[in-house]
This record gives sequence, C-alpha cells and structure tokens, in this order.
Amino acid sequence: MDTQTIVILDFGSQYTQLIARRIREQNVFCVVLPCTVPLAEVQALHPIGIILSGGPSSVYDADAPPADAKVLELGLPVLGICYGLHFIIHHLGGKVISAPKREYGQAEVSLERLQSPLFAGLPASIEVWMSHADEARELPEGFERIAVSDNALAAIENPARRIWAVQFHPEVHHTPRGAELIRNFVFNICGAKGDWTPAHFIETTVAAIRAKVGTGHVICGLSGGVDSSVAAVLVHQAIGKQLTCIFVNNGVLRKNEFATVQKTMRDALGLNVVAVNASVRFLEKLAGITDPEIKRKRIGNEFIAVFDDEAHRIAQETGGVDWLVQGTLYPDVIESSSVKGPSQTIKSHHNVGGLPEFMKLKLIEPLRDLFKDEVRRIGRDLGMPEEILGRQPFPGPGLAVRILGEVTPERVALLQEADEIVIAEIKAAGLYSSIWQSFAVLLPVMSVGVMGDQRTYAYTCAIRAVNSEDGMTADWAQLPYALMKRISNRIVNEVRGINRVVYDITSKPPGTIEWE
Ligand code: XMP
Repeated sequence: MDTQTIVILDFGSQYTQLIARRIREQNVFCVVLPCTVPLAEVQALHPIGIILSGGPSSVYDADAPPADAKVLELGLPVLGICYGLHFIIHHLGGKVISAPKREYGQAEVSLERLQSPLFAGLPASIEVWMSHADEARELPEGFERIAVSDNALAAIENPARRIWAVQFHPEVHHTPRGAELIRNFVFNICGAKGDWTPAHFIETTVAAIRAKVGTGHVICGLSGGVDSSVAAVLVHQAIGKQLTCIFVNNGVLRKNEFATVQKTMRDALGLNVVAVNASVRFLEKLAGITDPEIKRKRIGNEFIAVFDDEAHRIAQETGGVDWLVQGTLYPDVIESSSVKGPSQTIKSHHNVGGLPEFMKLKLIEPLRDLFKDEVRRIGRDLGMPEEILGRQPFPGPGLAVRILGEVTPERVALLQEADEIVIAEIKAAGLYSSIWQSFAVLLPVMSVGVMGDQRTYAYTCAIRAVNSEDGMTADWAQLPYALMKRISNRIVNEVRGINRVVYDITSKPPGTIEWE
C-alpha cells in the first residue's frame, strides 16, 4: 500500500508545523523538509504536491533561505504561502517589493476569480490572517490574481503550470476558512485520497518493522508514558516475542508507579517486560547533589548504565540484541533539521538524542512521523487503555527535578504523597485530561505553622498546573478555588512533613514548566 505524500518545504515560519497538522487532519500524509534539501530528496518521496511555507526573511535578504527553484518545474502542484508566494514570484520573473505598510493581523480578502479550484466552495469574501512586510508588485507571465485584500494582492494562480500561492496564512486558526482552502489544494488539486488513517499507518508500520527486523532481537526502554508504550505495542504487533521491554525504577517515580506500570504493560498490553528496581543505585548517585543540571546528568548516565547492563543480560539469553526502539516524535525530527539556528540549552533532556554510540544498536523509531495527538489516535486504534494514552507528560528525571535541593529517600516519599493527592483531586474534578500537566513540587523551605495546639516547622509544597499546546509555551491553569482548597487541606493534613502549600502563577516563558 503506497502512502500519498505532500512535501512542505520549510522556509522558517513559526507556522510550518501547523500546515502539516492541517493536512494530516485530512488523513493525508505530509513531511516537512528544510528548504535547503536537495531536489533529489524531494523527488525520492514521489510527492503528489509541494507546499512552500512562510518565513521571516525577504527574498532580497542576503541570508534569505535558499531553495532549489527547480522545485517549481517538476510539474507537481505547488502552493506557496506568504514567503512561498514571494519565492514563486521572484524566481519566475515577477517582482516583489518591500511594502510601504506592513500588514499584520486580521484582514478581509475578496475573491476575484470565483472559479479558482483553490477557493472552491468558499464565499466571495473571507477573513484571513496576514503577516508580511514584502508584497507582490508584478506577476510572472501566465499568473493571474485570484484574490485581493485592502492593501495587497492576496492570492494568485497559474493553473497551466499547476502553481497557486496565497499571501495570507490559511493554516492558522485566525483564518477560519483556511482549512478548507488547504483541503481544496490537497484533494482537488493534488488528488489526495485521504486514506492515511490510523489503520493504514499501523498496517504499513507493522509490515515495515517486520521486514526490517527479520529474526533479530529488539529491546525497548519503557517509561510508562504514551510514546514509549505506543512504540512498544507497534513493535510487539510486528514481532511479538522478539521484543523485550526494559522498565527501570530510577527511585524518583511517582507513588506505586513501578508496580502499576508493570501490571498494565504485562496484563493489558501483553508485553514482555523486564522490570529493574535500581532505585538504590540512583538515589546513591543523587546523594548530596543540589545542582539541577548535575542531577539530570547523573540520572541520565545512570539510566544508560542500568539499561546497558540489562541489554547485555538479554543479549546473553537471546543470543544477541540488534535493535533498539525509541519513541522519537515528529516535532523532534523537524526541530533537529530545521533552518533555524540551534537554540540555547535551557535544560538537558536526557531522553532526546538517545543512547550512546557504544551500544551499537540499530534504531527503530516507529513514531518519528507522528505528532503527539496522532500517537494517541494510533494508540486508541491499537486498543490501548486510556489510562496510558491520557497520561500527562512526566519528565525522564522524574520527581528529582521537582525536589529542589538534595534528593533524599525521605523527600521522595513526601513528594510522592503530595503528588498523589494533587493528581487524585484533579482527576476527581474532571480536569486531568484538559490540563497539560499538574503536579506538586517540594521546596527546601521550612516554615512555621500550627496544627491543633502544636507548633509545626515543616516543608513547603508548590502546586504547578499549566495549560499548553506542546510544552514549548504554557500558561498557569486557573484552577477552581474549591479544588485548590481541597488539595491544600489534604496535603497539609495527610502529608506529615509539609505544612504549607503555595500555587505557582508563572507562565512559560519566562518560567519553565518543571522547576529544575
Ligand atoms: P520545561 O520544564 O523545560 O519542560 O518547561 C517542558 C516539558 O518537557 C518535560 N521535561 C522533560 N521530559 N525528559 C523528558 O522526557 C526531561 O529531562 C524533561 N525535562 C522536562 C516537562 O515535564 C514539560 O512537559
């Protein structure tokens, strides 16, 4: 079964991923490639259409992102968006100028050629989102204007060359009819069938894994989270007993998590799980450490050491291990190949970048084409339980980055109790799945309190609850007061050692979601 593909060339717009999402929502597969990709790589994918994204540059900038203009000569349908429109005009002999007035924000666009297939089914006037400083002045030969805004040209076409372009951003929510425009391009112009369904994905992925692995043996690190679980289940469907999953207790998991994850993975998903209780090893490595980056590095290194020991043991039992499953997602893939410069390391995430070279294992990354919500859709289609698919993200270094100061077994136990109360109350209030993350943080701050007639002197617990689309930016959640009150009362009454609860009202940026 062939997969129809649309290629999106990324000129660096902050909205490029949204274009991909709008297309995939229509059950059509697409990939985002940096605009600098060699033409042969685009052709190798046998795309049914090409989209040129927006971007922050002007086509006249010395450092304007370079792309091979022969992409316009392949005879494939092309849709240019914003910078993509300028690129097309510039390279086909038209003229782009720096606009006298920047156009940014909501605008009204009027259609001039109602019969254009790009605007099929849309009214003569639509609301759009504009964000540009350059504008098209002269069109290349063979191009016609199809729509205008107050200020500028809004859409052009050359049906004979199969090229369309829009000045506005159809991919953002502020262009309410934009999804229909993209749909028109993908279905009416490119001829997509819309058959990239979860079932199609599962069938092709399982077949590909089976062919790749042959009789080899595969290991997979399970975290209990959505990505590694869905990846493991896909591989399990493909090769069954040739997969061994490794689940490590790093001593900073949540309360009862080591037991419950094992049970779900084995009983509900039928996975072959080796569970390694290495908490003592990890907590020894964390003794006396207060620096957040050192904590992260020590946990990361210890994880690799434990995993390596297990991999060797499994290799002896099975006669060799050849493959490692990783739950890499598409945003990581795009991020690492994007045209933007490398961003500063704010925190080192030990699970991005994978395991070290010396393991000599070949990688299977069954989710590397998927966004997070697509992973959940696949998981549902695989029949996986909601308690796994609906889980809020939990960082690799676990509670260690939520215990400020030294991580000790006593502090882990305190935070586990407080965290369990937060999760239970948020679930009871029906908010767990609508909130991106909600958790407790243990602060090494002691304060005075009074309980009964007794003076107390104990730790402070901060509650963090945030709404977010992707973890990159976040707003603190406005939890109902009654819920905050219940959480606070329960923690102070039930967790001996914490006598004060505060609520974190910092968004990201400037804060981060985790405290360390
Ligand atoms: P920050 O704290 O950087 O977190 O705003 C953004 C998102 O990433 C999660 N996070 C991690 N996830 N390994 C992970 O798998 C890590 O080391 C790690 N550190 C932070 C965090 O929980 C939030 O969802």
